[in-house]
Amino acid sequence: MMDLAVINCRQLVTLAGPARPRTGLEMRDLGIIDNGILLIKDGRVAEAGTRMADAKEVIDAQGRIVLPGFVDAHTHPVFAGNRAAEFEKRIEGATYAEIAAAGGGIRSTVRQTRAATEEELLTSTRKYQEWFLSGGTTTVEAKTGYGLSLESELKMLRVIRAMGYIPTFLGAHEIPDEYRGRIDHYVDLVIHEMLPNVDAEFCDVFCEPTVFPQEQSRRILAAAKARGMNLRVHADQFTPDYGTAVAAEFQATTADHLEHTTRDGAQALKSSGTIPVLLPASVYSLGLKKYPNARMLIEEGLPVVIATDFNPGSSPTTSMLMVLSLACTQMRMTPAEAITASTINAAWSLNRGNQIGSLEPGKQADFAIHNCSDYRELPYFLSRPDPAKTHKA
Ligand code: NIG
Ligand code: FE
Repeated sequence: MMDLAVINCRQLVTLAGPARPRTGLEMRDLGIIDNGILLIKDGRVAEAGTRMADAKEVIDAQGRIVLPGFVDAHTHPVFAGNRAAEFEKRIEGATYAEIAAAGGGIRSTVRQTRAATEEELLTSTRKYQEWFLSGGTTTVEAKTGYGLSLESELKMLRVIRAMGYIPTFLGAHEIPDEYRGRIDHYVDLVIHEMLPNVDAEFCDVFCEPTVFPQEQSRRILAAAKARGMNLRVHADQFTPDYGTAVAAEFQATTADHLEHTTRDGAQALKSSGTIPVLLPASVYSLGLKKYPNARMLIEEGLPVVIATDFNPGSSPTTSMLMVLSLACTQMRMTPAEAITASTINAAWSLNRGNQIGSLEPGKQADFAIHNCSDYRELPYFLSRPDPAKTHKA
């Protein structure tokens, strides 16, 4: 007896395939079953096919499509306040870098997040979690990095854990006000006070000449790696092949952003087995024009991932559907490649490729019913108002 059967799925988009990140033409194969039935038992996929079985509960998808829940592999969802005023300033001509240099940007969110109670942060994060779910996202990687002191980074981590998100420690997101001009002292604090006390799966660094230069990024990544943490790096958002060089050197799990990565950087990532995570909504929201070269990365045989980068500064969206649209229209990824990048490849980038990201027997039954009859409608109907019906095991 099954616990649940989802019937009348016009397309059951399984993403079934080899048990590893998908590259090249594999990214176009979504393992679609027409008029499929999804059978679930004990919170896991029992079968994804066309066979019906006895089930305690039946959901009639009524000809809509069923996808694995989106896996959002790069977000900063725990923050107080927002930066709508900065958004307006940028539209009037100020740049992201100028705003940051004047004490705004990440540091302004840090001031507000430090001042917020854990309960206040939980309340705002729960609101955004509703948005994630209604967009069909069932797994969220979440970074700290708006605390930048041991106490407030730990506060953020507790919220991330309470939400069931995958925790990434990003103490090296920015230099806090009290350490301006003393970057090496701040790096010492990250290495000696924060790293030994934070319980997170990944450690991330914002590696840019004006934020954490290569030398300081290396010190932090080496210390995190020595503690057994896996690594993610904010790389090449503004400077060509600068962060990717460091990510490759440390065999980071992912290198994220990559707006300015060239073929050399891509080849470095390929040789270190580092997965590229592209964040087109941050390019869009900052009003910039240079998107990562997804076609080149796919051509180089890299298993591309796309994510929202949800944060109050550069990417105020939780919508993976918006990211799918941008991936297609701005980075010329096909709809199928974009779906692979936001599900199974994203799952592998979080070391969970055997648990989530596809609807195959034994996997967690995280899925979403989207109100359309063909997967290509997801990136095509831009900003559709109808929410997905999302199930998380
Ligand atoms: O991924 N690049 C650095 N960090 C974030 C932005 C965070 C913020 O502006 O608050 C990003 O874009
Ligand atoms: Fe980010």
